[in-house]
Amino acid sequence: MITWMMNAAITLIFVLAAIGLFFFVFTRGALLVGGLSSRPGNEKSHVYPIYSNMRLIKLVDFQPVISAILLFQYHRLVSAIVSGLKATNLKNRKVLITSCAFGNVIPRVVKAALDAGADRILIADIIQNELVHAKSKLGRYAGKVQYIEDDATAMKQAEGCADANVMFFLLHELPHELKARALSEAGRMLAPGGKLYLAEFHRPEPRVLRALSWTYFKVFEPLGLALWDIHDPLAFLKDMGGWSCERTTYFFGNFQIITATKH
Ligand SMILES: C[S@@+](CC[C@H](N)C(=O)[O-])C[C@H]1O[C@@H](n2cnc3c(N)ncnc32)[C@H](O)[C@@H]1O
Repeated sequence: MITWMMNAAITLIFVLAAIGLFFFVFTRGALLVGGLSSRPGNEKSHVYPIYSNMRLIKLVDFQPVISAILLFQYHRLVSAIVSGLKATNLKNRKVLITSCAFGNVIPRVVKAALDAGADRILIADIIQNELVHAKSKLGRYAGKVQYIEDDATAMKQAEGCADANVMFFLLHELPHELKARALSEAGRMLAPGGKLYLAEFHRPEPRVLRALSWTYFKVFEPLGLALWDIHDPLAFLKDMGGWSCERTTYFFGNFQIITATKH
């Protein structure tokens, strides 16, 4: 019995280590290696291969894996955004999704926006493969959805073009100087009265969770830790002015949704 349990524990540790290694290699590890080359960077240099390589996108985009990465809070976070959209009158309005994300967030947001009356959904991402992949999940909404390759920090879209904008876990992946730019672009593209729904990581309350979360960021997503303090998106929106903001935290404070209404 003890040998059986030892074998199971060793196998589990091995599997978790292999998954961790896989994610490290195709996220931060790849950027570290890329940073060693003498080739100049561009506006896509911060994007991990798991978001740009089609094979990796298809391999990783598996709902239980994505839910586990967000500590099984994924459904809850998406539901909060969906409820916000459904409670808004979007009749004949346009909804923007700024950057793609894995799992069912995009189909759920698109459905909620169309149910609330929106007549057009724009999905913007800096990576064409992400748009192609998102499109593969949205077959039944063809004709209502437009896919645009664009940079969230310098969007080509017109001022006030959208009445709601959903940004799902984008900020923590952006270099610090681009986080504020993405937020001000989000504001520029919203019409007065429009709402920004921003889902992100947040500083957890319990020390143990904070230590685990800190370790996760240091290893995999070092650009995300600053959201806890010096690049707190709520503080930035308040400083920018012209917004009414509400923040709700989830899972002991580990995640947040900011709903910001543009004046
Ligand atoms: C939103 S984040 C990932 C969300 C979440 N971690 C998940 O599990 O899906 C990744 C997406 O952001 C996109 N992205 C990164 N930088 C961007 C930028 N400057 N403008 C638009 N999209 C960007 C990537 O191409 C990718 O599709």
